Order: sequence, then C-alpha cells, then structure tokens
Amino acid sequence: MIEVLFTYREKPAITGTSVVVDILRAGSVVITALGNGAQLVKTVKSIKEAKILKKEGYIICGERNTVKISGFDKGNSPLEFFDVAGKKIVLTTSNGTKTIEKARKYSKKVMIGAFLNFEYLYDYIKDEENIIIWCSGNNGKISYEDTLFAGMLVHKLVQYGRYDLLDSVLISLEFFKGNNLEFKGSHVEKLIKNGFEDDISFCKKLSIFNIIPQMIGDSFYGVKMC
Ligand code: MLT
Repeated sequence: MIEVLFTYREKPAITGTSVVVDILRAGSVVITALGNGAQLVKTVKSIKEAKILKKEGYIICGERNTVKISGFDKGNSPLEFFDVAGKKIVLTTSNGTKTIEKARKYSKKVMIGAFLNFEYLYDYIKDEENIIIWCSGNNGKISYEDTLFAGMLVHKLVQYGRYDLLDSVLISLEFFKGNNLEFKGSHVEKLIKNGFEDDISFCKKLSIFNIIPQMIGDSFYGVKMC
C-alpha cells in the first residue's frame, strides 16, 4: 500500500517506511550534507536542544522563518553544506524537523527523499510493502513543491507496477501529471523575498546525490547507492 500525507499534522493509515519530504529546504539540506560526506545529521525540534549539542562537537544549523538562527554556525540553505565532510550536524527547522519526529513515531523506517536523490530513493524503496510519502507542507498547510515531488515519486512507482494506492496518492499523481516541475506558492515567494532564490534552483536538481538519508537511532546516516 502507498499513502501520501500532505502535512506534518496528519497521521498515516498504514505503518511501514516513511519518506519524509521537505523540498524547501530541510530535506534537501540533509541530503546535501550527507552527500558531501557529513558523518551524521541529527534533527531536533528546539533551538535549546541544538545549543546543548554544540558542546558535544556538533555544528549547529537551522532556521526560523527561513533565516539563520542567531549564534548558529549555519542556516538552512543547502548551499552552505558543501564543506561538512566528517562533521556531525544538528539541524532544527520550522516544519521539516517536526515531520521527522512524527514519522519516527508512526513508522518502522524513516528516510528522506527530494529531487536531489530522486532516482536513487525510488530504487531503494520501490519494493517496500507499505510506503508513506510524508510531505512536511508549510506551517501545517499543504505545499506546492512537496506535493509535486510526491506525485513524481508515485508516478514512477505506478509505472513500476504498484497499484495499491490510497486516494491521497491519486490526488498527488493528478497534480504531477498536469505540471512542468515549476515551483510556485507562498514558501517560494518568501524564500525569494529573503534572498534565497539560488536555493530554489539548487533544490530542483534531479538525482545529483546517490545518498539516502536513513534514520538509525536518533540521527540520519547516508546510505550510498551505486
Ligand atoms: C522548514 O523546515 O520549514 C523549511 O526547511 C524552512 C526553510 O525553507 O528554511
């Protein structure tokens, strides 16, 4: 069975493997960091938790309202994560980290999917019995780019022969079919306004990292695909 959830506020009808989606930008950041050799990425909900981990040698990263948190080493732009080989990273963001927490609670396995690792992710999960494509959305509301990614993944899974689909899957599929992979909507507008236009172009790049971030314990580690 395959299910799509459109925001972190939802609960899945099935249990299985969750693919957490936050295209702009937390999911794309985790993939970029691990793709550039970071040792691990731990996601936390609060700024306080991240600051405590600084004392344990973590690089502390994240945003509130898209902007780097005061006193942090990095913000939430994937373009800041090219120089992280061997580093331990802690990340706190507005929506993405909440979805990850929720997915941990309701799934057997949690991984992260984005356009950046699309083909590799598809190959990794295509035979999983139950797949939950868990979009983060934007402040509790459905988001354009996460739904687009969900539809594209579902389209490929259907081509592969998966037909065990819940209604939410059909909705994302129809949305993808009528689309030319342009990103639109409120979060895109906010990122452009705040000077992050280059992040949007980067997050659209297709399958440039052969890494699947998989949660082991409380952190994401990169599973490298050939
Ligand atoms: C989030 O988790 O809400 C996003 O990654 C926000 C952002 O684009 O910085």
